[in-house]
Amino acid sequence: MAFENYLEQIQDKFIRENLMSDEFLDFLQGSRMPMDELLAYYRCAIMEIETKFKVLNEQFSLQYDRNPIETIKSRVKSTEGIIRKIRRKNLPLSLDSVEQNIRDIAGVRVITSFQDDIYLLAECLLQQDDITLIEKKDYIQAPKDNGYRSLHLIVEVPIFLKNEKRPMKVEVQLRTIAMDFWASLEHKLRYKKNIPETETEQLAHELMECAQISASLDRRMEDIRNRITKSTEAEKEKSMSIGDVIFHKNLFH
Ligand code: GTP
Ligand code: MG
Repeated sequence: MAFENYLEQIQDKFIRENLMSDEFLDFLQGSRMPMDELLAYYRCAIMEIETKFKVLNEQFSLQYDRNPIETIKSRVKSTEGIIRKIRRKNLPLSLDSVEQNIRDIAGVRVITSFQDDIYLLAECLLQQDDITLIEKKDYIQAPKDNGYRSLHLIVEVPIFLKNEKRPMKVEVQLRTIAMDFWASLEHKLRYKKNIPETETEQLAHELMECAQISASLDRRMEDIRNRITKSTEAEKEKSMSIGDVIFHKNLFH
């Protein structure tokens, strides 16, 4: 029995490795329309999430005279990217399984200047009643071993179609400019082939140091911003009380 299982496993492996491309071509051909349709739904989900963040930014700009969001970058995973992930994770070949298991087909990256704005924006998004949190990974409180920092949310947002309301998963990554700068460079190293191993190790070490510097920069910039806000507020209060005195003077004399 064990041997039969073993044979089955080998056969499975052979099919996956050798017939996969044909199998995938058939899968894609058979489901081209539905696949295009599914990707269009993900684009709609991105629009929903982007709008939510833009609305929050607008509100903060009116209320507190500042924009917490620096930029928003969004993307839908390419079909090749989806196929690679099905292969890597050994997932069943169906659109249902793609939708269930691949949670980063729609990706929205929100970049802020300051770290506390990340938590503010995440909280504001998550408290909206049409947003469901599926998973949260806080790589700011607990950075990855390589130094990577960001707040990741997998959320579900409904899109409203002609006759149906469809919940869609979106991966939201929130980072500061400094975190994004670091992640872009580290990403380059990750996907560069042909770098000698010792050099890769050195670069990884250097990147780890830069991650620490960038984390400390984020803290200091936030501290400076807080001090500026505090003294501006104190200044405002002072001028208000002077205004009051003048007002009272005018009233009584
Ligand atoms: P995937 O299956 O690859 O999506 O990983 P996961 O489900 O464990 O997700 P995780 O939340 O750890 O990472 C998802 C995404 O975050 C990646 O696709 C990258 O965009 C980004 N990311 C995560 N870790 C790193 C990292 O170490 N360096 C960089 N540059 N980006 C990272
Ligand atoms: Mg991913």
